[in-house]
Amino acid sequence: MIGVLVSGTGSNLQALLDADLPVSAVASNRRAAPALRRARSLPTASFELADYPDRVARDLAMADWLLERGARLIVLAGYMHLLTPAFLERFPDAVVNVHPSLLPDFPGGHAVDDQLTAGVGESGATVHLVDDGLDTGPILAQERVPVRADDTSETLHARIKEVEHRLLPRVVGELCAR
Ligand code: GRF
Repeated sequence: MIGVLVSGTGSNLQALLDADLPVSAVASNRRAAPALRRARSLPTASFELADYPDRVARDLAMADWLLERGARLIVLAGYMHLLTPAFLERFPDAVVNVHPSLLPDFPGGHAVDDQLTAGVGESGATVHLVDDGLDTGPILAQERVPVRADDTSETLHARIKEVEHRLLPRVVGELCAR
C-alpha cells in the first residue's frame, strides 16, 4: 500500500490515482494544500510544523499515521519539505520522489526557474529514492524534456509534468510489484 505526501496542486497524486495504484492514505505539511481534495474518500491528514515541537516530532507523527493506514511505500508527489532521518528510517529504501529536472542537476525547490535562468536547452523529469539530502538518492528513472526559446516557468513546468504523470506511476507500479 502506498502513502502519498503532497504540498501543492497534486497533479502527480492524480496520476497515481488514475493509474489505479493502491494508495491507502494522503498526508500533507499544509492543511490548505489543494492536493488533499483530490484524495476523495481516502484518509487524509495534515501535519503542520507549527503544531509540533520540532520537525522530528512532526515527521514521526506523520510516519505513524501512514503506517497505521497500511502504507509501506511512500511517494512524495510535490511534497516541499525535507524529511528527517527519523521518518526515512521507518520506510527503509521505500520513499520515492519526483523532481522536475535531470538530477543531479538543478536540485531544490526552484528547479524550473533555475533551469530557465541557466539557459539550458534540455530539462527533464527524475524519479528517485529519497535519502536525507536535497533531491539526492539513487535515480530510478529519468526522461528528457526539450526547453523552447519562448518557454516561461509555467509552460516548461507543464511540459515536464506531462512526463512526470507517465514516469511516476510507471516506477511506482514497478516498485509495488517487487
Ligand atoms: C512536480 O513538478 C514535482 O516534480 C515537484 O513538485 C511538482 C508537484 O506538482 N516535486 P503537483 O503538485 O503534483 O501538481
